[in-house]
Amino acid sequence: MGTDLKSVLITKEEIDAKLAELAAKIDADYAGRELLIVGVLKGAVMVMADLARALSTPVTMDWMAVSSYGAGTKSSGVVRILKDLDTDIAGRDVLIVEDIIDSGLTLSWLLSNLSSRGPASLKVCTLLRKPEAAKVDLEVEYTGFDIPNEFVVGYGLDYAERYRNLPFVGTLAPHVYGG
Ligand code: XMP
Ligand code: MG
Repeated sequence: MGTDLKSVLITKEEIDAKLAELAAKIDADYAGRELLIVGVLKGAVMVMADLARALSTPVTMDWMAVSSYGAGTKSSGVVRILKDLDTDIAGRDVLIVEDIIDSGLTLSWLLSNLSSRGPASLKVCTLLRKPEAAKVDLEVEYTGFDIPNEFVVGYGLDYAERYRNLPFVGTLAPHVYGG
């Protein structure tokens, strides 16, 4: 796997199986409806692509890009829209698709922003969730994996824009980020 990675945390097979499980739940919950899935760029690209193909529910797809103000690796909770939705979500059943929820600040901002646009329903699906997220009062309907508080890359997630194309989720070797 190369020397930059410490270990594989979640294999491609485990991701595929989990997305099939989540898709079955989503199909059951939205039976007879049409769903607008909203991917948060760039990290959610892989989850969106694979989840969308696992769903039987008719879906349309849209994308948002947001960025947290403030320096450092911690999310500040103050969010700026880099790319807004192309779709008017008023009256739509909307599912936000995320790669990872860490502090939950980004998601909490997104939820209040999107709910102000009057969707019929607004729920969240995330592939990964870190322990911090459990402390915040956020309703996440569909969660793939609860993971330890380690920096992870792969399957859409990056370190300095690298590793997004790994088919699995792995942890980085400390020497890569100066540890
Ligand atoms: P919050 O803290 O607002 O932030 O929930 C979520 C965003 O932080 C990034 N993030 C990570 N990115 N590996 C990454 O590549 C990680 O382990 C990690 N933890 C948080 C990510 O952009 C996510 O959307
Ligand atoms: Mg990132």
